[in-house]
Amino acid sequence: MRKPIIAGNWKMNKTQKETKDFLTELKPMVQDAACDVVVCVPFTDLTLAKKMLKGSNIKLGAQNVHFAESGAYTGEISAAMLKEIKVEYVIIGHSERRQYFGETNETVNKRAAAALEAKLKPIICVGETLAEREEGRTEEVLFTQLVESLKGFRSKDFDRIIVAYEPVWAIGTGRTASPEDANKSIGFIRKVLYTKFSAVIGEKTRILYGGSMNASNASALMAQEEIDGGLIGGASLSAEEFSKVVHY
Ligand code: PGA
Repeated sequence: MRKPIIAGNWKMNKTQKETKDFLTELKPMVQDAACDVVVCVPFTDLTLAKKMLKGSNIKLGAQNVHFAESGAYTGEISAAMLKEIKVEYVIIGHSERRQYFGETNETVNKRAAAALEAKLKPIICVGETLAEREEGRTEEVLFTQLVESLKGFRSKDFDRIIVAYEPVWAIGTGRTASPEDANKSIGFIRKVLYTKFSAVIGEKTRILYGGSMNASNASALMAQEEIDGGLIGGASLSAEEFSKVVHY
């Protein structure tokens, strides 16, 4: 019922030249994909990527959006700016944003609200740190992140909201969560959506796993009942590897 989605998060990688080479290679490799395919590229690559993806099945995403319509926010990008390029998805609250750039549940909530207002599809990231996991606080942390990041959103907003479960200890470390652990946490996230919002929202919302997902572990992760897709960092930077994940 929930269509799987494999989204690449390029982070701060690829110039326009590299974007051009990469998408030229990737397009034919994933044209028969059974899932939604998304690439979330740096702001400077969006216009070129949009042009190159015209007529293809690959959708375009950004990696952040500001909550204000415009104004004195040096270095930020508004939802209207993304809409003008016809960006469809936007990652919000990635743990790297939380860790290095002071992003909080409150700013994540505001950024997601701005994205929804502009009819973008926010990919809202949550996940516990290693210390939190070892203290047995995974569910408590996920609960707070979800309730605060999704505050005020209405039923119809969840037609567009995607949640990504990204345990911080698994991101860029080569240390993937086991399929069972990832399934358990994502099942918990779904339960929170059921109880804090509604059964319909719990049932329809796509929840992705992210953290060292690659060509060799994608099929085991995707075989889990609760996992609706992946947010792929490192393994999304090679067209060959990423297309293997898409064809998990
Ligand atoms: P990774 O990153 O696949 O390189 O671990 C995932 C992410 O941060 O979205």
